[in-house]
Amino acid sequence: MKLFIDTANIQDIREMASYGIVSGVTTNPSLIAKEGRKLEDVIHEIVSLVDGPISAEVAEGKCEDMVNQAIPLSKIHKNIVIKLPMTWEGIKACKILTSKGIHTNVTLCFSVSQALLAMEAGATYLSPFMGRLDDAGFEAEELIQDIVTVRDNYGYETKLIAASIRNLHHLEIASLAGADIATIPTAVFKKMVEHPLTEKGLQIFADAAKGVK
Ligand code: E4P
Repeated sequence: MKLFIDTANIQDIREMASYGIVSGVTTNPSLIAKEGRKLEDVIHEIVSLVDGPISAEVAEGKCEDMVNQAIPLSKIHKNIVIKLPMTWEGIKACKILTSKGIHTNVTLCFSVSQALLAMEAGATYLSPFMGRLDDAGFEAEELIQDIVTVRDNYGYETKLIAASIRNLHHLEIASLAGADIATIPTAVFKKMVEHPLTEKGLQIFADAAKGVK
């Protein structure tokens, strides 16, 4: 499973990328707004830190406007992926951008029907939202499993990005369900290495090493 970082914070991206396990970055308008910066400025910086797919989300509602925003964004760097909303206008824009060879990530996916639309439109990536689905009382694990099954049944090439990950449980069930990628917020990313028995083991070994000296 590839691990992406789900943030627009440059310090966080720099720190997590330094461990060598970040394969891509996803942003959204809320994450960009949190940084108080322009989308283009943030994206320019991110592409210099991570050599992998970098999702930049369009803020427009009409297909034509989405395409007009997407084209200059895609020219910033070869790794740019245009994030499009799961709407009819977004699906239409996905088809157009795909035909131009521009990579896309269809976001806000909560059902197999929506996934089918995005995959038929040629989406490079599809982002089912786990946390928001859980919040609404639905099974996120089942959705990922079902989309993987449908994708494989028909041989679509769309890669699944498990998104809206709020905790390690989401991440782990996404990997068990067969998501290709997980996009992980920094706080959850940092917890991945932690386990109380690892802490305890480290202490035991440290004490033992002191005894040897
Ligand atoms: C990433 O592509 C999504 O925009 C993000 O994971 C959404 O997360 P949230 O539901 O915690 O806002």
